[in-house]
Amino acid sequence: MTGPGGRSGRYERLVRPVLFRCGSGDAEAAHALALRWLARSAGLLRLVRPYSPPGAARTVFGVRFPNPVGLAAGMDKDAVALPAWPALGFGFVELGTVTWHRQAANDGPRLVRLPGSGAVINRLGFPNSGAPAVAARLAALPPLRVPLGISLGRSRVTGDDGAAADYRSSLRALYPYGDYFVVNVSSPNTTGLRRLQGREQLAQLLAVVRAEVRSLAGGPGHAIKPVLVKIAPDLSDSALGDVLEVCAEHEVSGLVATNTTTSRQGLAPREATLGRMPGGLSGAPLTRRVREVVAFVSRETGGALPVIGVGGVMSGDDALRLFDAGASLVQILTGLVYHGPGLVREAVRACASGIGLPEAALGRRPLVSGPR
Ligand code: FNR
Repeated sequence: MTGPGGRSGRYERLVRPVLFRCGSGDAEAAHALALRWLARSAGLLRLVRPYSPPGAARTVFGVRFPNPVGLAAGMDKDAVALPAWPALGFGFVELGTVTWHRQAANDGPRLVRLPGSGAVINRLGFPNSGAPAVAARLAALPPLRVPLGISLGRSRVTGDDGAAADYRSSLRALYPYGDYFVVNVSSPNTTGLRRLQGREQLAQLLAVVRAEVRSLAGGPGHAIKPVLVKIAPDLSDSALGDVLEVCAEHEVSGLVATNTTTSRQGLAPREATLGRMPGGLSGAPLTRRVREVVAFVSRETGGALPVIGVGGVMSGDDALRLFDAGASLVQILTGLVYHGPGLVREAVRACASGIGLPEAALGRRPLVSGPR
């Protein structure tokens, strides 16, 4: 079989069963195995030209993207398989979230798949080697052939008071290597992090980040690299409005909407027990909410603030609808776990042609039983 359905079909028939059985079904073991495969093949994969069918390329916040479908933060937290992602069809890659201090994952169960819901719950808590080590790794790599975003977060050992200095140090270490940066204030798995979305806290943090970016760029008159803010899907309209005002005051280049949710709406009833695990829920249950948030931001800003739409893109049609809602770019993570790289190319083609593909035409059974 050829075409998007065929590619996804092969992944679902041949690769996904191996990955899902790995480590007796342990999702973290599957993630580690996939990263090892990709890291090992990276030398060869770096030769593959970026995927850019006609109509797919675009310039957003001053950066040229060969296509508008990127890898979301969290898949390659430590930049171990970077050259592999463009070869899978991604038009950009967001690595991280990186923190200033090296840190391990949270204790206890941290990652679970809910296939009946097309979802994942994670409470990893930013495991990564720390900004200085990630910077050293990036310095040793040839430049990536697609734009690289770097997601920055607060270290677990750093309290609220030290948050801004923590982000600033990471930014300083990683600034030469990123095409854009994301201030991640929306992961539910670092205690207190989401408080940084509050009006005052966000304003203080962004003032520090903006001053640092200006100084790293070489002072007034020099072009600064774009800084975006990643938000939670659980914000009320009024809290979202506050975020938008603060972003406008601090010359933020765009939003990444959204991170995982603490809500458990949209899970298949038979997965309700698994769904009790604390952490952030991603995948199909997020599809509708993310579209609402993107549409809200687009409406409130008159389309002036670029949005990277992320959450619950499980088909080319989902990606297309996010663009229709006002996204300038989209990202995928959980959809890749369930549908493999065929989904990435399908999303790129759907966006490039502007034509949504009906689920039935993709040769795949929907994983979600609830409404989308
Ligand atoms: C994530 N996500 C995430 N986001 C972020 O900003 N920094 C991170 O380190 C992580 N880590 C992470 C790990 C895992 C295992 C998952 C599933 C997700 C959130 C991710 O980038 C994205 O915003 C959401 O997952 C919604 O998109 P999908 O997964 O529904 O396509």
